[in-house]
Amino acid sequence: MIINKATYNFTAMNIKACIFDLDGVIVDTAVYHYKAWKRLANEMGFDFTEHQNEQLKGVSRMASLELILGWGNVTNKTEAEKLELATRKNDWYTEMIGQMTPAEILPGAREFVQACRDAGLKTAIGSASKNTPTILAKLELLPLFDAVVDGNSVSTPKPDPEVFLKGAEELNVEPSACVVFEDAIAGIEAAINGGMKTVGIGSPDMLTRADMVVSGLDKMTLDILDKL
Ligand code: G6P
Ligand code: MG
Repeated sequence: MIINKATYNFTAMNIKACIFDLDGVIVDTAVYHYKAWKRLANEMGFDFTEHQNEQLKGVSRMASLELILGWGNVTNKTEAEKLELATRKNDWYTEMIGQMTPAEILPGAREFVQACRDAGLKTAIGSASKNTPTILAKLELLPLFDAVVDGNSVSTPKPDPEVFLKGAEELNVEPSACVVFEDAIAGIEAAINGGMKTVGIGSPDMLTRADMVVSGLDKMTLDILDKL
């Protein structure tokens, strides 16, 4: 069914824009982040679990490094050394995402973002990742978003709402009319702190503060959105 502005009228809550986190919502880059951080930890002589890796979702590059160093009880690194470690990890990571293709877009993501646009909603990306421009280009998704706010343009990481508030501002939509789609607890908190509605992507057991949770954007429809 083709839904467009003419046939779909948003009734509830006056939703005007959807802001999407990138990693884990539009594309599954978590696996590449995990591989690169794991390689770095292994080089330093320790390992961490996939479960621990969950805690890195939505967390900025340097904050992720701090967590990992903590897990390995590494306490002797200078700021310059930390920067070098983060750069080394990012070099491996960018090598991997350089091979990505549009086939790696998560199921339903492109379709749902397009449906939002067809219904007259504005769309934006709100991500902590400094690699956002590269990923969107590789996935050929740039034309789907009216605004892109990422780790290059914000100074305070999630759960601070800066990234989403900046997105709302660029879209010229008041925060209360924005819905944020997030897979990370810190991201849901950021959206709530910004006064926005939230859809969690993942498990309701983990994303307990989201207004609603779906397993992926393939489970999302404009009808569900309208009932938020
Ligand atoms: C996203 C991911 C995190 C990652 C962060 C920074 O929030 O979920 O795992 O650490 O972006 O990514 P970057 O590409 O800038 O290292
Ligand atoms: Mg995410």
